[in-house]
Amino acid sequence: MIKRSAIAAALGLMVMGNAGAATTHVPAMVSTVCSACHGVNGVSMVPTFPDLAGQGAPYLIKQINDFRDHTRADPQAQSIMWGMAATIPPNKITEIADYFASQKGAPGAPQNPQLVAAGRKIFLGGVASKELPACAACHGSSGLGVEPLFPRLAGQHQGYVVTQLQYFKAKQRTNDPLQIMQTVAGKLTQKEMQELAAYIRTL
Ligand code: HEC
Ligand code: HEC
Repeated sequence: MIKRSAIAAALGLMVMGNAGAATTHVPAMVSTVCSACHGVNGVSMVPTFPDLAGQGAPYLIKQINDFRDHTRADPQAQSIMWGMAATIPPNKITEIADYFASQKGAPGAPQNPQLVAAGRKIFLGGVASKELPACAACHGSSGLGVEPLFPRLAGQHQGYVVTQLQYFKAKQRTNDPLQIMQTVAGKLTQKEMQELAAYIRTL
């Protein structure tokens, strides 16, 4: 009983802490525009819309600029984020990125254990027979990303992750200057994408 109430109190403090941080410094554009899809704390409720909370600021700045100059030109970028990014005043980009970077990422959520186990194996070890590198080599063993180049994946929505891997594979998303992800995703089957996305969601 004591233990449970201590945990409940700690959780209560964490929730309050988050709400406090989010309400004191939310940039105006975030509360009026971005929050509709990404959530005011950068944790989105819809699997199509990526979580931005805890993502590295350099990566967020790069993506916003890539939407603005149309370097990131996959179908959802064109239909949704080109328009959104165009409305951000250039002098607010860093502030918005820093805000989302400072928010606490959503905790991992349990998924189908078979998918998770298969995804974990590829994430941490790659697939030697097809020269697929371990995702962990760039994105970190816990998927937290390595700034400034490699984005956080931990906890990201499965739907979003699968869509991006498909975009990379189909060369519809080509904003990665070294084309690393086109090569990586080009080697993944649809099944492996689902497995990886399930594992990533648990992180
Ligand atoms: C109508 C819903 C919607 C709104 C409003 C919106 N976004 Fe997005 N956002 C999306 C979708 C969908 C994607 C995925 C785009 C893709 O697949 O290329 C996205 C992707 C992003 C990404 C890339 C994330 C990643 O992990 O690569 C960033 C950064 C971003 N949005 C920032 C913003 C900011 C800042 C605002 C407010 C100015 C905003 N968005 C408003 C729907 C929205
Ligand atoms: C050699 C380094 C490298 C490896 C290995 C790698 N990635 Fe990436 N990944 C990147 C880079 C760089 C980007 C950012 C591209 C950009 O700037 O838009 C990225 C982006 C991504 C994104 C898009 C993130 C977002 O928020 O939109 C996903 C999803 C992803 N990687 C998944 C994977 C998976 C799954 C694997 C393993 C099968 C993997 N990556 C292996 C370097 C790597």
